[in-house]
Amino acid sequence: MKAIVIRKFGGPDVLQVGDVPAPEPSDQEVLVRVQAAGVNFADIMTAAGGYPGTPPPPLVAGREYCGVVEDAREASADIQGQRVMGYTQWGAFAELVAAQSNYFWPAPAHWSAQEAAAFPVNYFTAYLAYWKAGLAGSAAEYSGHSSPHKPRVLIHAVAGGVGTAAVQIGKLLGVEMYGTSSSQEKLTRVKELGLQHGINYKERDYEEVVKEMTNGEGVDAVFEMLGGEHTGKSVQCLREFGRVIVYGTATGQASAFDTRSLYAKGTSVHGLWLSVLSANKKVMDAAWARMSDWIAADRLRPIAGHVLTMNQAGEAFKLLLERKNFGKVVLTIP
Ligand SMILES: NC(=O)c1ccc[n+]([C@@H]2O[C@H](COP(=O)([O-])OP(=O)(O)OC[C@H]3O[C@@H](n4cnc5c(N)ncnc54)[C@H](OP(=O)(O)O)[C@@H]3O)[C@@H](O)[C@H]2O)c1
Repeated sequence: MKAIVIRKFGGPDVLQVGDVPAPEPSDQEVLVRVQAAGVNFADIMTAAGGYPGTPPPPLVAGREYCGVVEDAREASADIQGQRVMGYTQWGAFAELVAAQSNYFWPAPAHWSAQEAAAFPVNYFTAYLAYWKAGLAGSAAEYSGHSSPHKPRVLIHAVAGGVGTAAVQIGKLLGVEMYGTSSSQEKLTRVKELGLQHGINYKERDYEEVVKEMTNGEGVDAVFEMLGGEHTGKSVQCLREFGRVIVYGTATGQASAFDTRSLYAKGTSVHGLWLSVLSANKKVMDAAWARMSDWIAADRLRPIAGHVLTMNQAGEAFKLLLERKNFGKVVLTIP
């Protein structure tokens, strides 16, 4: 089968379409013919050899896909021919992927394959960030503080894949959202999705802007995927009892912050890693139950901001690396 093969670790140029043997599903897996695959920052780290647990080359990257179950095996014959969207650690940038049923969900009929391929990583991560922040209830249920106010969240890289998903979900949860981006044009587009306050970090320091715009109070949660100094700066953006949810290090730097900065306001920093959390069926089922209701009512729809072909995988990676993407970058698999 054709796949995007990494034969040596490196930058976007190491991604080459080539022939590899089709995967052989285990007894717990089915074979899915892939139509489209979502590109994630984690794929870039995988190609560079920097994602935890990456096997040695040659390997096929790709963490999420939309496709049709081609060989359901006897035990799951009822899903033969079903269109699904799924999550995996590797292997989705290929014509065929071996998939475990705990890690795929029915692709909504009203979504294109590109939209469905843009769902699993971004929407589960974004939803679970609200859940970890204690904000996944409705705004009316939120009782973190005595002063009545809408819960507030600061979303870094708000125009990206996880960022746009977090804005759509935040709108449904009734959250007041602040978001950072390097580009005014991207911020204008995210505002159309429901972001109330855009912060261009090339022009203003987001910590100062958040203080100003919340009358010195701060936000209830920060979704932090930058690392380095940004974890500490994000803690400074919190109001009493607020939480920073850390889930990435796009700067390439480990988070640096002083735990003593947490004392005065009783704030905390929480980790989130879908690679591991996705094995928790109870948590994932609850997240899917909530999101599938929104999907059925057509209130939640992924943003496939850029659709490229399998041969353009290097360009797809560059869109993320050069901060040019809006929403999700998706590859079509012929
Ligand atoms: N822990 C988990 O389970 C999990 C799951 C999914 C994603 N993630 C993490 O979440 C982050 C976002 O992932 P994504 O796939 O949705 O990517 P993305 O947000 O679509 O793309 C990356 C964006 O990050 C912003 N950015 C800020 N500083 C950057 C830097 N130093 N280098 C590159 N980009 C920078 C850029 O937007 P602006 O120019 O607008 O700032 C860029 O467009 C990544 O760090 C990823 O590893 C973690």
